Amino acid sequence: MRGRTAVLADPLLDRMLFSPDQILDRVEEVGAAITRDYDGRDLVLLTVLRGGIFFLADLARHIDLPLTMDFMAVSSYAGGGAAVRITKDLDDAIEGRHVLVVEDIIDTGLTLNYLLNVLRQRRPASLEVCTLLDKDARRIADLQVAYRGFRIPDRFVVGYGLDLGGRFRGMPFIATLRDEVMG
Ligand code: PRP
Repeated sequence: MRGRTAVLADPLLDRMLFSPDQILDRVEEVGAAITRDYDGRDLVLLTVLRGGIFFLADLARHIDLPLTMDFMAVSSYAGGGAAVRITKDLDDAIEGRHVLVVEDIIDTGLTLNYLLNVLRQRRPASLEVCTLLDKDARRIADLQVAYRGFRIPDRFVVGYGLDLGGRFRGMPFIATLRDEVMG
């Protein structure tokens, strides 16, 4: 399989959790559900940089509707906690539009919870969440997730947009890290 040699060669990686085919099959199913639900609506896919762009790019190609895309970037304030700083805002207004936030992973949900509160104040016609991965065992914020690719266990995962210090984003599959890497 394309890219598989990287998993075998890299000592940081444990095992493949989702293959490229598994990911794309699920993206196709999620895209079909979104196509059904948003038919006739003015849809904007909103993604949080950087990890979400891989999922966004594949998902957009499996939604058979006119749509636009926009991007935000955030960083956590030093010291952690729920505070998030917007480092790049959307380019376009979302008032009256149907907004679907596309995330690669939801962990504690704190990032998304903050963003949803910010976006809600801009009066979109609707505001829903689509995530490829849901590590729901770690959830702190109470979030409604309309579309979910996969539930995953509480393991650090990389690939298909997800990184470890900037590495592994470009892998076409998702893999767990070896336990000893994260300490
Ligand atoms: C990931 C993901 C979410 C956030 C989820 O981004 O894209 O934005 O973490 O974590 P939470 O549910 O605990 O708030 P990350 O900080 O890894 O940034 P990146 O996409 O640039 O790698």
